Amino acid sequence: MALPLALAVLSLLPLLNAQNPACANLTVAPMTNATLDRISGKWFYIASAHRDPEYNQSSRIIQAAFFHFTPNHTEDQILLREYITVRDKCVYNSSYLWVQRENGTISKYVWGREHFGHLLFFKDPKIFFLASNLDNKKKQGLFFYTDNPVATKEQLEEFHEALACLGMHKSEAVYTDWKKDQCEPQDSQDEKEKKTDEEES
Ligand SMILES: *[C@@H]1O[C@H](CO)[C@@H](O)[C@H](O)[C@H]1NC(C)=O
Ligand SMILES: *[C@@H]1O[C@H](CO)[C@@H](O)[C@H](O)[C@H]1NC(C)=O
Ligand SMILES: *[C@@H]1O[C@H](CO)[C@@H](O)[C@H](O)[C@H]1NC(C)=O
Ligand SMILES: *[C@@H]1O[C@H](CO)[C@@H](O)[C@H](O)[C@H]1NC(C)=O
Ligand SMILES: *[C@@H]1O[C@H](CO)[C@@H](O)[C@H](O)[C@H]1NC(C)=O
Ligand SMILES: *[C@@H]1O[C@H](CO)[C@@H](O)[C@H](O)[C@H]1NC(C)=O
Repeated sequence: MALPLALAVLSLLPLLNAQNPACANLTVAPMTNATLDRISGKWFYIASAHRDPEYNQSSRIIQAAFFHFTPNHTEDQILLREYITVRDKCVYNSSYLWVQRENGTISKYVWGREHFGHLLFFKDPKIFFLASNLDNKKKQGLFFYTDNPVATKEQLEEFHEALACLGMHKSEAVYTDWKKDQCEPQDSQDEKEKKTDEEES
């Protein structure tokens, strides 16, 4: 069972730009408990680039966003608590993501449809990417996350390099603007209440 899946993953490799040796590091790999630990915690959505028209449009309305990942190692689920600023308002939502370890993918049901993202790491451990539709040049996309609200110049360069590895151009990217965030106060309040609950129970 594991072998055909591993091969399916390996077959994605030729899609990456072979000219740049660094691209060899940007590969989809099966996920382990260590991978889940690595993506656990608070992350900020910095930018993305999408050729899928639906993703392209929806990514353009997000002004700022961050989220908490709480993986459950035994259930292969991740509790997602997301705080998205849209039209100058904070929208909070929580849901579960599904982990397909062999595939190196995370998926989410939205309106009854399952959306897949391949988890990618590159160089900086404080960055991760989710790639969508990796097998389809016309629909592919890349989400870029860091553990800080504002990405450094080096991190942005890493994102641009990752795009190039996928055969995309940095002009295709859209960025969030942390100055527009409306959610941080609510998150602080939620975290405080969570702590109080934990202390009381
Ligand atoms: C690829 O990753 C390895 C291990 O993280 C690192 O030592 C190496 O420098 C990377 N290669 C490039 C070209 O970035
Ligand atoms: C993404 O949306 C922008 C703005 O609506 C548009 O200019 C661009 O062509 C779109 N890109 C794709 C690949 O659909
Ligand atoms: C993982 O999920 C199982 C089943 O829902 C639950 O019993 C367990 O407490 C969860 N573990 C964590 C660390 O939340
Ligand atoms: C991953 O972690 C879970 C929960 O701690 C454990 O039951 C499982 O055996 C671990 N899997 C591996 C491959 O180590
Ligand atoms: C692997 O991902 C594909 C979609 O990309 C999905 O159809 C398949 O069910 C996944 N396999 C597992 C074992 O989750
Ligand atoms: C929250 O997420 C669920 C599942 O993805 C979705 O059905 C629902 O519409 C979302 N709610 C808001 C307010 O975005």
